[in-house]
Amino acid sequence: MTNNPEPLRVAVLASGSGSLLQAILNAQDNSYVVVGVFADKPCEAIDRARRHTPRPPIVQVVDFSDFGQARRPQWNNLLADSVAASSPDVVVSAGFMRILGEEFLDRFGGRTINTHPALLPKFPGAHAVRDALAAGAKVTGTTVHYVDAGVDTGPVIEQREVPVHPGDDESTLHERIKTVEREMIVDVLRDFRSLGTRARPGG
Ligand code: GRF
Repeated sequence: MTNNPEPLRVAVLASGSGSLLQAILNAQDNSYVVVGVFADKPCEAIDRARRHTPRPPIVQVVDFSDFGQARRPQWNNLLADSVAASSPDVVVSAGFMRILGEEFLDRFGGRTINTHPALLPKFPGAHAVRDALAAGAKVTGTTVHYVDAGVDTGPVIEQREVPVHPGDDESTLHERIKTVEREMIVDVLRDFRSLGTRARPGG
C-alpha cells in the first residue's frame, strides 16, 4: 500500500499582494497541489494565480462589494460554493482580509487554516504588526492556526519567532515576518496529512 497516493488538494483565499500565495504556488510538489484561488476583490493575488503555469488553479473573485455587510451570509455561501467547486482537502487563508462566517465554516471548518503575522494569542486582528511595534515587542512572529468562529482564535498548528530590530517600521517588520511566513505555510502544507487530528477543532 502506498502512503498519500494523491497530493493534498489546497484552495487558497487571498485579498492583497499575494506573496504568500506565490510561495505556495511555487512550492507545489507531490505532497500538495493548488486547485483553487479565491479573493474577495480584484487584487494582485488573483493576477498572480492567473499567470501561474504549468498547473493553473481555478481562479475566482467572489466580490464582497457586490454583497456588502447586509448580505454577508449570501457572500459566505457563494464563496463556499465556489471553493467547493475546486474540491479541496484544505482551505488556506493567506492574507485574506475577511472574517469567514458560519455559512462557510459549517462546510469547511476543521480544514480551514490561516496564517497570521504574530505569535497568537498575542496581537490578533488586522493590525498585528503595528500592534506588536506599538507594544514594544522585542520578538514577534507568525502563526498558522485552524480558523474557528473567532478572530484569530482557533487552535495553533505551528509558530515561528521573528526578531524586531531597532528602527523597524511596520513595513520592514512585516516583510521580515512574511519571509518566515512563506516558508512556514509551505512546510505546514507539505506535512498537513501527518498532523492528523492534532490541534484540529473537534479532533
Ligand atoms: C501576511 O502577513 C498574512 O499573515 C497577513 O497578510 C499578509 C499577506 O501578505 N494576513 P501577501 O498579500 O501574501 O503578500
